[in-house]
Amino acid sequence: MKITIVGTGYVGLVTGACLAEVGHDVFCLDVDQRKIDILNGGGIPIHEPGLDVVVSRNVAAGRLRFSTDVAASVAHGDVQFIAVGTPPDEDGSADLKYVVAAARNIGKHMMSFKVVVDKSTVPVGTADRVSAAIAEELKARQSDLEYAVTSNPEFLKEGAAVADFMKPDRLVIGHANDAQGQRAQQVMREVYASFEAAGHKIYWMDVRSAEFTKYAANAMLATRISFMNELANLADKVGVDIDAVRQGIGSDPRIGPGFLMAGCGYGGSCFPKDVQALVRTSQEYGHELKILQAVEDVNENQKHVLGSKIFAKYGKNLQGLKFALWGLAFKPDTDDMRAASSRVLIQELLHAGADIVAFDPVAIEEAQRVLALDFADAPELLKQISFATDQQAAVLAADALVIVTEWKTFRAADLNQVKASLKHAVIFDGRNLYDPRAVKSLGIEYHAIGRAVLTQN
Ligand SMILES: NC(=O)c1ccc[n+]([C@@H]2O[C@H](COP(=O)([O-])OP(=O)(O)OC[C@H]3O[C@@H](n4cnc5c(N)ncnc54)[C@H](O)[C@@H]3O)[C@@H](O)[C@H]2O)c1
Repeated sequence: MKITIVGTGYVGLVTGACLAEVGHDVFCLDVDQRKIDILNGGGIPIHEPGLDVVVSRNVAAGRLRFSTDVAASVAHGDVQFIAVGTPPDEDGSADLKYVVAAARNIGKHMMSFKVVVDKSTVPVGTADRVSAAIAEELKARQSDLEYAVTSNPEFLKEGAAVADFMKPDRLVIGHANDAQGQRAQQVMREVYASFEAAGHKIYWMDVRSAEFTKYAANAMLATRISFMNELANLADKVGVDIDAVRQGIGSDPRIGPGFLMAGCGYGGSCFPKDVQALVRTSQEYGHELKILQAVEDVNENQKHVLGSKIFAKYGKNLQGLKFALWGLAFKPDTDDMRAASSRVLIQELLHAGADIVAFDPVAIEEAQRVLALDFADAPELLKQISFATDQQAAVLAADALVIVTEWKTFRAADLNQVKASLKHAVIFDGRNLYDPRAVKSLGIEYHAIGRAVLTQN
């Protein structure tokens, strides 16, 4: 099938590459010339394990191409996936300007029936806005061409995006029940035919329910994390090991083990903005979602938990102290720094006068870019942060090690070596990577999340 992907970011590039992998003829469009140049030069603009192999294989096979040519992109695909960003607006609602712009381009240039697929995470009712934007453009051209708008939210996880896309837990597709909607259902069945044949279930539903399903999924996962973080903070006060509790409840099949790790807060491009957007939708409809507002508040607090532990030990003035920082990306296996907890911690430490030597296996370049923006009002503070070429170099002569991202390489670190390199043997672990008793037995002072009972005398 001929498929166009509008927006070649994390979701668009993975979707395009994976749909080419199953045999479709895919055209990826982006407005960002730099991204398209990198892709056409054989590179990959994001860090995503395994993606380079899929992209290069399908480019070589002639099934995948990249361009900024809008008219050509609309002409190419019978199916037009919209996978552009939906960043939070000032009031927390999803900003739909990129989605609507993409829809307008389709309306402006289409010359035949198109199935338009909202792949971006968008609030309930967005398909109607997309449909209206296309209709307006067609009307301006006095065209009566037909089209159908469907919703096919994406559930991939950054860091495992290719595997998630190729072996999805489920596919959710919303379509209308009128003639165009049913035609669109047939087209979407063909798009995902090889996935269905491999046993991956498609949940067919109406468009608004599909749009809502994506928010409900992210809101549920974020709720589990904030729930455990709130319990972890109490665990430290009441003398409970939150990780034992996690195992104790996660073994209950009604609860399940996923997304119960306590830590220093969730970040990324999805949970924070999707929780906010759903709260905003609920306010618009006069039906406030109190649980989700609390999920958001708890998470904002949790991003300060490492800073609070550091201030509790050293006081508010950190001048003369040097901290090694392991992990910048919002989670492992990605260079994504959007809403990363490290950004909050770096603000706190630099403003308190500390020096930081940071290391991340892949996110240093992206961190330098976003920190320049974060510190646009106080660029002189960035002189206090430097970046190490490896994790061992970062800890050299530091007063303490602070861990923000749960990269495997940090979990596997030789803590004897870390202790020997540090000036003072102190670790603040925002991801509960180690056994507190084992760390303590090495003579290292260990501050984790909700596990203080194991290191107290
Ligand atoms: N990143 C994830 O893990 C993830 C997972 C599931 C869903 N989503 C959702 O998918 C959507 C895209 O997210 P992302 O992380 O891929 O964003 P992204 O910022 O990585 O990519 C979006 C791309 O769209 C391009 N773009 C913007 N307007 C355009 C236009 N009119 N025409 C062509 N290209 C245009 C941008 O230049 C950018 O490259 C969001 O709604 C997000 O919530 C993201």
